[in-house]
Amino acid sequence: MKTVIGNEKDLERAARVLRDGGLVVFPTETVYGLGGNALDSGAAEKIYAAKGRPSDNPLIVHLADAHEAEKYAHTNSLFYRIAERFMPGPLTVILPKRDIIPLSVTGGLDTVALRVPSNVIARRLIELSGLPIAAPSANISGKPSPTKASHVIHDLDGRVDMIIDGGDCDIGLESTIVRIDGEDALTLCRPGAVTCEQLSELCGRVNIDKAVTEKLADCERPIAPGMKYRHYAPSCPVILIDGEHGKAVEYIKERADKHTGVMCFDCDMSEFLRAGLTVSLGAIGDADAHAHRLFDALRVFDGREDIERVYSFLPDKSGISFAVFNRLIKAAGFHTEKV
Ligand code: TXA
Ligand code: MG
Repeated sequence: MKTVIGNEKDLERAARVLRDGGLVVFPTETVYGLGGNALDSGAAEKIYAAKGRPSDNPLIVHLADAHEAEKYAHTNSLFYRIAERFMPGPLTVILPKRDIIPLSVTGGLDTVALRVPSNVIARRLIELSGLPIAAPSANISGKPSPTKASHVIHDLDGRVDMIIDGGDCDIGLESTIVRIDGEDALTLCRPGAVTCEQLSELCGRVNIDKAVTEKLADCERPIAPGMKYRHYAPSCPVILIDGEHGKAVEYIKERADKHTGVMCFDCDMSEFLRAGLTVSLGAIGDADAHAHRLFDALRVFDGREDIERVYSFLPDKSGISFAVFNRLIKAAGFHTEKV
């Protein structure tokens, strides 16, 4: 499929496709989104079909401006405190929905997830469409979210009406998701570039849903249904090494052979000479770079049949590293080894 670059003419055409009930992939500052009209059940069904996604996993509704939230959800003062600081930006807020949002978009829930992206192409497209746009990440269900147009083409070529290529996504991990629990309490359902530390400055109580850090028992339900699914994993197992960096390097080195993949940092690249494939996430302390590169790295391993296992370090839980931690433990199916 031919991609377009998102000039004004392309975006007018894309907006028309959305108004006619079609699907358009567009860049955002987090990851690429697979968009359709959020007021149209038929478009929502097409999105689920294109992704191969279970229809009980709700879609995020993207708006051009936070004030439009009022049309689609019941807001409160905490919502506006959060919106003023973080919208537009990489944050999604869950609120009680209004009837205009079909249940097919919210996976049958009486809440809706709202986000105002900051990427200029995304914002202009939403504005031109005149619609709220339902958009999950533009990957086949279960795979890492796409951070480059080539990832989208790999997963969705021929399954959507249009793909807009906006280059690499700035952040590279999906938005932070919070549920508003009252005037001064919220629950973090998925960590992202808007960090827990930042949210705590605005809100007295920030709870963290158990599904963010732990494997749930079969009878337990995460707040964000998507958090229960196996996610992000390449075709081979991922193993996370939990411990001091030098010790973790030694541990992996002892086990590395030509069927081993290693995800590490720039300073480690010459350590794993016996490994089949070594990929760096960037300089060791540069958490933004790790976030930016993670999904591309996981996709590189996914394409390699000779690699039977991938080792990576377990990130710490501060700032945006918490989001990298969350995606990696999901990719690893919670498999960690302590050194
Ligand atoms: O950065 C992002 O958020 C990207 C871009 C495209 O905006 N979108 C994205 O969407 O990551 P998706 O569908 O891949 O992930 C949305 C998550 C899922 O885990 C879903 O279960 C949760 O949001 N979610 C959506 N609506 C919800 C609701 N009403 N209540 C609880 N969780 C909800
Ligand atoms: Mg997704």
